[in-house]
Amino acid sequence: MQHFSVCQCTILLVLFQIVVWPSIIVNGKKTKEQCSTCKDISKNFYKGLESTSKSNFGGGNTKWEEKSLKSYATSEVRLVEVIERLCDGSSKESQCHSLLEEHEEVVERFWFKEFAQKKDTDFYAYVCIDHLKVCCPNNTYGKDCTPCPGGVDRPCNGNGACDGEGTRTGTGKCRCSSGYQGDLCLNCKDGFYEESSNETHSLCKVCHISCKDLCSEGGPAG
Ligand SMILES: *[C@@H]1O[C@H](CO)[C@@H](O)[C@H](O)[C@H]1NC(C)=O
Ligand SMILES: *[C@@H]1O[C@H](CO)[C@@H](O)[C@H](O)[C@H]1NC(C)=O
Repeated sequence: MQHFSVCQCTILLVLFQIVVWPSIIVNGKKTKEQCSTCKDISKNFYKGLESTSKSNFGGGNTKWEEKSLKSYATSEVRLVEVIERLCDGSSKESQCHSLLEEHEEVVERFWFKEFAQKKDTDFYAYVCIDHLKVCCPNNTYGKDCTPCPGGVDRPCNGNGACDGEGTRTGTGKCRCSSGYQGDLCLNCKDGFYEESSNETHSLCKVCHISCKDLCSEGGPAG
C-alpha cells in the first residue's frame, strides 16, 4: 500500500513537471525572448506589407468578383499571405509559431480594426506592448513598464542602460557604460576622472596611463 502511494506521488510529480510547470512559465512569466520574437514578428509584418503591396487577388477575377470582394489592400486574402511569413527567419521559430497561434486573433483584430480602418496604429506597439504585453515602450521595463532610473528621456543619465529595458522583464538596475558607476551612473569608476558634473549630467574621462588607478584630471600630472 505504502509502495503504491509513493509510486502515485512520483507520477503526480512528473505530471506536474510536464503539464503544469511549463504553462506556469509560459503564461505567468514573460521572457526577454518573447519580446524579441514579437519584435521579429513586427518586422516581418511590415516586410509582408511591402512584398504584397503590388499584389492583387489571384488571376481570373471577373467584374463580379472584383466588386464582391473588398479591395485586396485590406482583405483577408492579403492578411493570410502576410501571416504566413510572420515567423520567417525568426531565431526561435517554434516559439514564434506558438506565440502567433496563441494570439492570432490579436493580429486579426489589428488588421481589421486598425490597419483596414486606416488608423495609423503601429503594429509593434499594438501587438507586442499593448495586447501580448511581452514588450514595453523604450526606456521602461518590467511587468508594468516602469520607467528606467533617471526617467524615460535620459535613462541612467545617458551613461548606461537599464536592465530589462523595452521588455516585461528585468530589475531596472542601471548597467553603466565604461567609466561610470552608481545607481544612476553619475559617478566615475577608478581609472577615470570627472571632467564635469551636476545633478543630472556627469562626464567621466579615462586617466592618463601613467596614473594607474586614480586621478583627478587628464594628463600625466593628474
Ligand atoms: C525605440 O528604440 C529603438 C532603438 O533604440 C528605435 O529604433 C525606435 O525608433 C524607438 N522607438 C520609439 C517609439 O521611439
Ligand atoms: C548639467 O550639465 C549639462 C551638460 O554640461 C547641461 O546641459 C545641463 O543644463 C546642466 N544642468 C543643470 C541643472 O545645471
